[in-house]
Amino acid sequence: MSSSNFLEYRGCLFPAGHYEIDSLEYARNEFQVRKDDIFSITYPKSGTTWMQEILSLIRSDGDPNVSRTVPVWERIPWVEVTSLRKKAEAQPSTRFISSHLPVHLFPKSLFTSEAKVIYTVRDPRDILVSLHFFSRTAGFLDELDKIEDLLPKFLRGEVLFGSWFDHVRGWLGVRNQVNLLLLTYEELFQDLRGSVLRICNFLGKELNEAAVDSVVENATFEKMKDNTMCNYSTVSKKHFDVQKSPFLRKGISGDWKNHFTPAMSESFDAAYKEAMKDVNFKFIWDQC
Ligand code: A3P
Repeated sequence: MSSSNFLEYRGCLFPAGHYEIDSLEYARNEFQVRKDDIFSITYPKSGTTWMQEILSLIRSDGDPNVSRTVPVWERIPWVEVTSLRKKAEAQPSTRFISSHLPVHLFPKSLFTSEAKVIYTVRDPRDILVSLHFFSRTAGFLDELDKIEDLLPKFLRGEVLFGSWFDHVRGWLGVRNQVNLLLLTYEELFQDLRGSVLRICNFLGKELNEAAVDSVVENATFEKMKDNTMCNYSTVSKKHFDVQKSPFLRKGISGDWKNHFTPAMSESFDAAYKEAMKDVNFKFIWDQC
C-alpha cells in the first residue's frame, strides 16, 4: 500500500477518490438513522456483496428480477461512499444500507435508535488472502507480489478500513447496545438456508418456502459469479479489472491454508492471540 492512495480519517485509512473527509464527517455526525433502517456492516472482503445480495433477495420476497437488473451497490448503497450516500439516504423506508465503517466512525444516531444491524465477520486469514487478490482487481490498491508482504501491513492495520482487530473488537463491544445480529461468512458458507432463515427472523420478515428457496438459489457463489449486477464486471477497468482477478474469486472458507507458510501462521497466531485476548467471544475459527 502506498499511503498516497489513501485518505486518513480519525486513524482509519480509506481509498482516496472514493471517500472524502466531508462525506465521512457527514456520515458520522449528520446522517439520521431511522428506527426501521437495516444496516449490513462488514470489514472489507468479509462477504459484503454476498450479504447485500441476500438482503436484496429477501427484500424482494425471493424475486431475482431486481438483483438481475440493478447493480448491487445501488440496491444496498454504502452510507460512507461519496457517490452513493444520497442513494442510501433517499430510499423510502425500510432503508437497506451497507457500511464498512468501524464503530467509532459510524453514524452516531445509530446508538439512540432501534435500527437493525447485521454484522458479518470472516476468518481474518481468509480476508487477507482475498484482499491480496483484490489488490489485483482494484485499481486504487497497490498490488503486492506476495501475500507475505501484505501480512505485516494487515496486522498493523495499514490497509483499507484499518485494523480488522479494531473493527471486530469495536462492533462486538457494542453488540448489547444496538440491535445487532452477528453472523460469520463461515456460517453462510456452511448453511446458507439456515442463515437466510436467521436473517429473516431477525428482520421480522416472513417468507414462504418457495421464496426462501429462491433467495438461497440466487445467492449461491455460482449464481452471483454469473450475475453482472454483482460481479463487478460492469465497472470501469480503471476501478475494477475483473480480468486480472475476479471479484467473486473462490468463495470458500479456509483458503488461507493454501497460501500461508508456517512462518506466516506463527506470526498471525501470535498477533491474533494478543489482539483478541480480552474479547469475550469465540468465533468458529477460534475452535479449530
Ligand atoms: P474470495 O476472494 O475469498 O473468493 P466482499 O464482498 O466483502 O468484498 O467479499 C468478497 C469475498 O466474498 C470474495 O472472497 C468472494 O468470492 C466472496 N463471496 C461473494 N459472494 C459469495 C458467495 N455467494 N458465496 C461464497 N463467497 C462469496
